[in-house]
Amino acid sequence: SLPNHYDHPVRIAVIGGTGLSSLPGFTPVASLSPTTPWGAPSSPILILTHNATPIAFLARHGASHQLAPHEVPARANIAALRGLGVRSVIAFSAVGSLREEIRPTDFVVPDQIIDRTKGIRPFTFFEGGLVGHVGFADPFDARLGEVVLRCAAGLEAGGESITTHKGGVVVCMEGPQFSTRAESHMYRAWGGSIINMSALPEAKLAREAELAYQMICMATDYDCWHTTEDVDVAMVMKYMAANGENAKRLVGAVLDELCKEEHTDLVAAKHWEGSAQGAVKFM
Ligand code: ADE
Repeated sequence: SLPNHYDHPVRIAVIGGTGLSSLPGFTPVASLSPTTPWGAPSSPILILTHNATPIAFLARHGASHQLAPHEVPARANIAALRGLGVRSVIAFSAVGSLREEIRPTDFVVPDQIIDRTKGIRPFTFFEGGLVGHVGFADPFDARLGEVVLRCAAGLEAGGESITTHKGGVVVCMEGPQFSTRAESHMYRAWGGSIINMSALPEAKLAREAELAYQMICMATDYDCWHTTEDVDVAMVMKYMAANGENAKRLVGAVLDELCKEEHTDLVAAKHWEGSAQGAVKFM
């Protein structure tokens, strides 16, 4: 069994979603079970090394996918990663497509979010006397997004059959039920590109914690607006399984790239350092 401690700061984390439950090709060196003031994270955090660079891997829905989207302890997850030294997060998510051109198995590197959660998930670190308002106009880290897009283009050029869309609006709904047909059409009219149940509050908490955060989404269905079959769990799982190798390949390529010396400052999220401090009103 793996040691339960790791004595160096870890800068890069992957939060795995449905269908991305491990990172093959990386060497596991520790399995950590940190506690935080917000409780325990979704699962033990696996530390893997790639060449000499450590990477933290956290399964958002738990080690055996036992957590529904509204049960994910997002504050504990972000706080635990931050506590390890993490400053950059690549977050993976299976999504429904709200656009004809985003086909099931396509990847999307989104740049916007519409919040359709219902306020039942704890969504901020700033409460209980600590009042703060961070900017969230651009919820993702464009520099990490650029790296992801370049890696995807590299895989395509190398002959892998993967299609990636630059930018897109994630509608994050509460769930766990899928949308009604009327809602699905409304999200399309709003300009939504894709839909999931996991972008929030994760992205908001990452911003409050001054982390660089970018989602990589993989379409598994056309939700229920399209003339094809309506989404169900079997469909999500089928497409996830069919394209799981590509998901691992893309995330692997992104980590390869981020481990390079030239990305040290990006990965350390120097550009976010102190960004939340001006948001806080000290009592
Ligand atoms: N995750 C995968 N497909 C989805 C959909 N259609 N709606 C919400 N979340 C999803």
